[in-house]
Amino acid sequence: MGRDRVAELTLRAVEKRFGAVQAVKAVDLDVADGEFVVLVGPSGCGKSTLLRMIAGLEDISDGEILLDGRNLNAVAPRDRDMAMVFQDYALYPHMTVAENLGFALKMRDMAASEIEAKVNEVAAMLELDALLHRKPRALSGGQRQRVALGRALIRDPKVFLFDEPLSNLDAKLRVGMRMEIRKLQAALRTTSIYVTHDQIEAMTMADRIVVLKLGEVQQIGTPIEIYQRPVNSFVGTFIGSPPMSLSKADVRYEGEAAFLGFGRGQEIRLPSDRAAVLRSAAIAQIEVGLRAEHIALADGGGEDEATFLSDVILVEEHGADSIAVVRLGDHEVMARVKPGGVHTGDKGRRFEMDVAALHLFHPEKGGRLG
Ligand SMILES: Nc1ncnc2c1ncn2[C@@H]1O[C@H](COP(=O)(O)OP(=O)(O)OP(=O)(O)O)[C@@H](O)[C@H]1O
Ligand SMILES: [Mg+2]
Repeated sequence: MGRDRVAELTLRAVEKRFGAVQAVKAVDLDVADGEFVVLVGPSGCGKSTLLRMIAGLEDISDGEILLDGRNLNAVAPRDRDMAMVFQDYALYPHMTVAENLGFALKMRDMAASEIEAKVNEVAAMLELDALLHRKPRALSGGQRQRVALGRALIRDPKVFLFDEPLSNLDAKLRVGMRMEIRKLQAALRTTSIYVTHDQIEAMTMADRIVVLKLGEVQQIGTPIEIYQRPVNSFVGTFIGSPPMSLSKADVRYEGEAAFLGFGRGQEIRLPSDRAAVLRSAAIAQIEVGLRAEHIALADGGGEDEATFLSDVILVEEHGADSIAVVRLGDHEVMARVKPGGVHTGDKGRRFEMDVAALHLFHPEKGGRLG
């Protein structure tokens, strides 16, 4: 296996309507050759519909889908040179693992000896060698998923399409399989589109992430871009674990400076460049997005305008670090601290906010400011 050809996928203003339901709205996307793109978003946001349109399993209501510049709108699924892996594996129950793997090749009238060689090659890649004579019902969930993967690999398609392929596996197996899929894809460099509702899968696997909400693209970018500069509060809270804390704050201007008031007299001073952004938008109230790593314990440090005193409502141990839920004015926010640093029920601990890193969102529209 391996490739000597290019596979660039382009979506232009792709739409899908099911009667009155608009499942996908004007999606534009360019997937580069060999790229691994993850579509992520909450249930019902149109991920599967979009993937099925790319596969040709669903007609598109509007727009166009191109593979290497060739319009696919009228091309039948079997002629698109794409292989799809489904959540429920979709194996043939009456066939052995070897027959399941070789089925697509048999349909292409490949010689039996050649099929056998390919089946053995793929089985070796996925460590299925010892299971080739079993039927799917005699396999574990993880083994079934590897067969489903093998069935896609063996076709050596231009594009892999994955629809939540790991969601039926237990947490540990999922982590192992996501690495395995990524390693295989990196070796084969096959253009891939992967659908998941799991933002951790999206973050860990993607070259680029497409965040969808209600059929609309919110943001397209690398995992780091999306994590560090979410375009709105939806993306900010959807991506990242623990989730970004959102708190409404009143803005008080004083000379060049701006102070964010979180209630109960707790104020944090904004750096002047951020203050300028709020001033130019004439904002009196703001939604502040804080990631746990941007609040640190500051015991012993002096009182300054980026620190606040707080009680510790709850501490969750994660081993390498702890997540503390602390009070910030009228709000609760999460702080990432060293294990053992704070304890549930602590009173009057001092925390420091990394004011350069906090995210500012429009209080009603949710869009990023600055
Ligand atoms: N055949 C259909 N007829 C009518 N509405 C549909 C049909 N298929 C999907 N929908 C609707 O389109 C929207 C998008 O569905 P889709 O299955 O693409 O979501 P999803 O993002 O894959 O969700 P999940 O994470 O739950 O799998 C939903 O509102 C769904 O109810
Ligand atoms: Mg789906």
